[in-house]
Amino acid sequence: MDQDALKKQVAEAALRFVPEGEVIGVGTGSTANFFIDGLASLKDRIKGAVASSDATAERLKSHGIPVLSLNDVDSLPVYVDGADEVNGHREMIKGGGGALTREKIVAAVARQFICIVDGSKQVKRLGKFPLPVEVIPMARSHVARKLVALGGQPEYREDFVTDNGNIILDVHNLDILNPIETEEKINNIVGVVTNGLFAKRPADVVLVGENGSVNQY
Ligand code: A5P
Repeated sequence: MDQDALKKQVAEAALRFVPEGEVIGVGTGSTANFFIDGLASLKDRIKGAVASSDATAERLKSHGIPVLSLNDVDSLPVYVDGADEVNGHREMIKGGGGALTREKIVAAVARQFICIVDGSKQVKRLGKFPLPVEVIPMARSHVARKLVALGGQPEYREDFVTDNGNIILDVHNLDILNPIETEEKINNIVGVVTNGLFAKRPADVVLVGENGSVNQY
């Protein structure tokens, strides 16, 4: 199976987590897009969805799925999203698509985070994928210097503005020995909105699309 077929397979496996009669949180990216396409067939069984990006909101609407504001939702039982890397502790790097901040907000509210990935995203240790950091534009150089001091090599993501009007620094070669500590340290730099480590709030369930099967842990 090619990578897209694996993404579709794992996205469809996540449909069994769709909460009947409730609102669902929906992530961003190519794997999440397959999930949205599958969710369309169940749209009469949910109240609506909260989107983690403008792109996801548009795709949900194109299928006729009602998009609700997170502020108007009392309870969010489930959030389904992809990841760029996930380890055995269900900690992740996310934000390859630049939607990390809204993803982290929706994940913080959701009771259950279902991470959907193809097998290529599984790692023993996080950090081969450059860590995305969302930064207030005027703080770009300041934050970049602090990230260098932490041992990383930040690269400005050219021609990209987040849904929140900010920029992204992709940090290469960070030594992420302790993901929770790294997540906190980077978030403490003035000017950082958030970073793509999801360690303080890891996934609750990881579904992995392998050739012909979906594994869960
Ligand atoms: C979006 O900002 C990301 O966090 C995505 O969830 C992540 O990059 C996975 O994307 P794909 O499913 O496209 O690989």
